[in-house]
Formats: sequence, C-alpha cells, structure tokens
Amino acid sequence: AREQTFSILKPDATRRNITGEVNAVIEKAGLRIVAQKRILMSRKEAETFYGVHKERPFFGELVEFMTSGPVVVQVLEGENAIATYREVMGATNPANAAEGTIRKLFAESVGENTAHGSDSAENAKIEIAQFFSGNEIVG
Ligand code: CMP
Repeated sequence: AREQTFSILKPDATRRNITGEVNAVIEKAGLRIVAQKRILMSRKEAETFYGVHKERPFFGELVEFMTSGPVVVQVLEGENAIATYREVMGATNPANAAEGTIRKLFAESVGENTAHGSDSAENAKIEIAQFFSGNEIVG
C-alpha cells in the first residue's frame, strides 16, 4: 500500500553537508520527499521523540547528539514506504549495514548513524504528527 514514513537526517549529516547526497539515495529508491524542514531539535522534543528509549544506557548520549546541531525532518511517501525506507537506511549499526544503504555509505557509528526512519505504521503517524501539521505535507 501507499504509505508515509517519518525520517530524520541527523546532525552528523548536516555537519558534513551531505543531506543532498542522502536525499538522492532516498529518491533513487522511489520514495518521494513530501515534506521537509531543517530544525534545531529542543532537548524536550528529542526526549519526547525517543521516549521509548529512556531506560537505555545510551539515552543521554542520544538526546545530546540529536540536539547537537541541525537536523532535517522529513515525510517520505511511497509504496510500502516504512519497510522500504528501513531497507534503504540499512542496519542501525553501520558495521552491519548492507552495501549501498545510507548507513553503509555515510554513517560514522551506531549513535551517529545519519538517518532515522519509523519502525511501524503506528509510530510513523505519531512521529509525523510531532513535527508536521497536515498543510506542510504536500504529496
Ligand atoms: P534511531 O533509528 O534514530 O533510533 C534510536 C537510536 O538510538 C538509533 O537510531 C541509534 O542511533 C541510537 N542507538 C542505538 N544503539 C545505540 C548505542 N549502543 N549507542 C548510542 N546510540 C545508539
């Protein structure tokens, strides 16, 4: 089915000025960027966004990193967009990511791994709603 998923190009991507290169991989995979903005996430936004990870040992580091510089938040649309984007991103740890994936091509470490993508349709809805209003999404 045609779906929307939520994506973040993380601070390691904006720092290295490679968001266009990452977007090229996204678009070549057949996903359309139907909403996009560059923002500085507040600590509160990052803590809310990553709330499910708050008991993890890396939570503090994760929030620190995600607020350390600009991010690009996006809505991607396409056939099976959620699973498709997870395939395009590759494994969370770039050391395990397949050839040609965003994390294999660009990621620096498991923490600074260039891109986030929703893991389910339910979370995609929640994540999109945290950062975009309906009139900002233009398919
Ligand atoms: P993301 O898809 O944005 O969702 C949770 C993030 O936590 C994940 O990508 C990783 O960047 C990060 N993460 C997962 N494991 C670790 C770890 N061991 N150390 C630091 N960050 C991690």
